[in-house]
Amino acid sequence: MQFTPQLEDKLKKLMRNYPIKRSALIPMLLFAQDEQGFLSQETIAEIAGRLELTVPQVEETISYYSMLRKKPAGKYHLQVCTNISCLLRGGEELFEHARKKLRLAPGETTPDNLFSLEEVECIGACAWAPAIQVNYQFHHELTPERFDQLIRELERSRT
Ligand code: FES
Repeated sequence: MQFTPQLEDKLKKLMRNYPIKRSALIPMLLFAQDEQGFLSQETIAEIAGRLELTVPQVEETISYYSMLRKKPAGKYHLQVCTNISCLLRGGEELFEHARKKLRLAPGETTPDNLFSLEEVECIGACAWAPAIQVNYQFHHELTPERFDQLIRELERSRT
């Protein structure tokens, strides 16, 4: 499999920075996912080979981390935390609101590929619960109204 020259450069730098090959696994997966949108079986096999890991070892890692995915997501991938701090401050209600607002079940993507929605465990923003993550951007202390405002802003920035 061939990656783009830009991705190859990033992967080569990683390999130089990590004396133990397998330590580069998560950043390699993230770089590949950022460029390709998701981790295909072909990409997984390629990265496994480069790091002298088996495909099941790479898939175990992917299944553990909610930021890694094996199917395409929307342009804006919304991860709504419903873990304990967020749960206590309206995270579940916020997730239900998001489902209704976007007319999505967990793991689905809108027909225009603009939004995808996922319920996740703690994203490390407990002090500002309820929190969601949109791609790499955090949004804190969200209410349904602020969520709707965020969606409007993202819709406006689609072009
Ligand atoms: S519990 Fe939601 S960010 Fe930690």
